[in-house]
Amino acid sequence: MNLDPTALRAEFPSLSLTSGGRPVVYFDGPGGTQVPDRVIQAVADYYREANANEGGAFATSERSDAILAEAHAAVADFLGARAPDEIKFGANMTSLTFHVSRSIAATFSPGDEIVVTSLDHEANVSPWRAIATDRGLVVRTVGIRPEDCTLDLADLDAKLGPRTRLVAVGYASNAVGTINPVGEIVARAHAIDALAYVDAVHLAPHHPIDVAALDTDFLVCSAYKWFGPHVGALYGRRDVLDRLPAYKVRPAHDRFETGTQNHEGIAGTLAAVEYLRSVGRRFGMERAARFAPRTGRALELKCAMAAIRDHELGLFRRLMEGLAAIPRLRVWGITDPARFETERAPTLALTLDAVSPRDAARALGEAGIFTWDGDFYAQALIERLGLFDSGGLLRIGLAHYNTADEVDRLLTELERIAAGH
Ligand SMILES: Cc1ncc(COP(=O)(O)O)c(C=O)c1O
Repeated sequence: MNLDPTALRAEFPSLSLTSGGRPVVYFDGPGGTQVPDRVIQAVADYYREANANEGGAFATSERSDAILAEAHAAVADFLGARAPDEIKFGANMTSLTFHVSRSIAATFSPGDEIVVTSLDHEANVSPWRAIATDRGLVVRTVGIRPEDCTLDLADLDAKLGPRTRLVAVGYASNAVGTINPVGEIVARAHAIDALAYVDAVHLAPHHPIDVAALDTDFLVCSAYKWFGPHVGALYGRRDVLDRLPAYKVRPAHDRFETGTQNHEGIAGTLAAVEYLRSVGRRFGMERAARFAPRTGRALELKCAMAAIRDHELGLFRRLMEGLAAIPRLRVWGITDPARFETERAPTLALTLDAVSPRDAARALGEAGIFTWDGDFYAQALIERLGLFDSGGLLRIGLAHYNTADEVDRLLTELERIAAGH
């Protein structure tokens, strides 16, 4: 069954906002998505009914503990982890990566190597560079093929070697939408006994993720990119986490969740997972055979993400076809429709010959269409494409709550802007 965005949109209060008298169109999802009412409600309910610290012998603390435990289980199902304690919450992906990189690198020796890529968001690069400086490690950077903004896998092979201890790679580019062959990259890392650290922040709202099938050691994402609050989540394979030293205070029972967490945000994260589960139940279950032998919530979530993927790909194709007809406009990254299914997230970056990304985003914003411009912290990529000094890219990020009408409205406005109006 095809996902029907109009049925789902009613659940998102912010989708009915207007700007300048026109309904707002949110194509800003890669910077953070809108949230359904049940997420807002869960955050408020936490404060009303369960607001307490962990481990107390009284009702609100017990309620709070139950919510936190269920949220770990829910995100484990969302990512395909084997157990709830493989999920660690934190402030955001960046903070989690700075944090756990310190534990991971404590097991490395000076001269050991970490491989990063120039397609990645800096949040999966800078923490590794910082810890490398602290510990005398070497960072090697995999290049890209600028013609289609894909990773240069031959260069990856050249950068892997006997001293490689970790490969940090993005699942999908938050700037140009490329989906990397992460399963293959994890296998190459494991073949030389290196760990794999996957940044799935960009892919998570668009595509089923299965950490067990990927066999990755780590995978990170952020709930605010998939219809939840500003909370980060890290998956770490149990045996790998268990053998890392932990930077924790002595009495803390969890080795990687430091201090008091954002309980209300985690309650909202649980609600976001339950929202996605409902999408699966309503629109996804005919895809269940693909995800055997999963059952229950884990299966419903995979079906949800597969239904979302199908809907977004349809919108993406419509957008690409429309853009092809607009003169003096260039789409960066993969443009061959035959590759969309396996290699493209529904995020598109473009430049206009005569209008800067900032001016285009401003003009769209005035028309009620919200997009991002700039480098989106994918700084190495923007530099490699030679776009750093000209303001980077204009980014159109589709989400499952977007509609064909919204894509058409964007195309009309872009046509006007490209024509200099
Ligand atoms: C691909 C990617 N990785 C990492 C991040 C950083 O995530 P966070 O804001 O949770 O630190 C972002 C944020 O935009 C992102 O798009």
